[in-house]
Amino acid sequence: MKNLLTTVFALSVACVTSLAASMAEAQTPNAGASGNPGVPAVPGATGPGPAKAVASPKSLEAKTAMCFGCHNIKGYQSSFPEVYKVPMIAGQNAKYIASALNAYKTGDRKHPTMRGIAETLSEQDIADIAAFYENLGKDERQAAPEKQHEPDSQVAGLIQKANCASCHGANFSKPIDPSYPKIAGQHSDYLFQALRAYKTENNPAVGRNNGIMGAIAKQFSNAELKAISQYLGSLDGEVATIPEPRFHHR
Ligand code: HEC
Ligand code: HEC
Repeated sequence: MKNLLTTVFALSVACVTSLAASMAEAQTPNAGASGNPGVPAVPGATGPGPAKAVASPKSLEAKTAMCFGCHNIKGYQSSFPEVYKVPMIAGQNAKYIASALNAYKTGDRKHPTMRGIAETLSEQDIADIAAFYENLGKDERQAAPEKQHEPDSQVAGLIQKANCASCHGANFSKPIDPSYPKIAGQHSDYLFQALRAYKTENNPAVGRNNGIMGAIAKQFSNAELKAISQYLGSLDGEVATIPEPRFHHR
């Protein structure tokens, strides 16, 4: 198992490295005629900067290739800065995915690996990737039930205190705004890590700077956050890990 994980990690690192290199190349302005075969090179016509072409299936494949080594392997764990399962992002709201990627990019969300990755993505890349993951595995997923199973009385009290459902939806999968996350059925250990991160300050590798969730998470002890996370993770949700996606050329 350990060997497998090591291999997978090495693989994903290799993916990130080679992809970052190829993306850098693709984003170089006026990369030359060898670049975009479909786009005729008209010297001087568009000026510097990457062409605003609609993403071709091929480039979407390239953009997402580096994510697969972590987000599309069931049960894959992150080992730095802490050990927890990599979040499920297939079926998540596109607007929230984009917002999270931008937060890693600006450093509002601290996570050295995700920051390094997000920094290689342009606005267009982020929009394309977010739309891709929102739809990924659509046919294999089910809508979350309208009504979830009830928590025990301790967790019920905690969830009421901060009125989590008022933003994340009664079933925790219908947030009131598409830039808010679906949290039902997400990995409990990741939810716990995320909730603690909203409370964490002055740590170079961990922390989330978010006005809304910061104020909420700070009302709870870590033990309470853990109990909430276990309940939310036990629910039926819409987020999933979809292994080895195949690209359908549309
Ligand atoms: C080396 C493993 C790894 C790779 C590669 C990776 N991620 Fe992540 N990703 C993580 C981890 C770990 C987290 C959780 C970070 C945290 O605690 O905030 C994360 C968080 C995220 C989140 C936030 C999810 C949420 O629920 O808030 C999004 C969105 C995301 N990644 C998208 C991507 C995309 C898109 C790619 C490819 C361009 C990618 N990731 C590549 C490990 C990875
Ligand atoms: C006023 C609206 C609001 C309320 C109330 C609220 N949330 Fe949130 N929640 C948000 C927003 C907005 C985000 C996205 C923050 C970000 O971008 O990091 C979020 C993010 C989260 C995340 C991170 C998910 C991920 O994938 O990383 C978790 C976990 C979470 N909320 C749990 C809760 C819990 C548990 C409660 C109640 C104790 C709660 N929220 C109450 C608005 C709210």
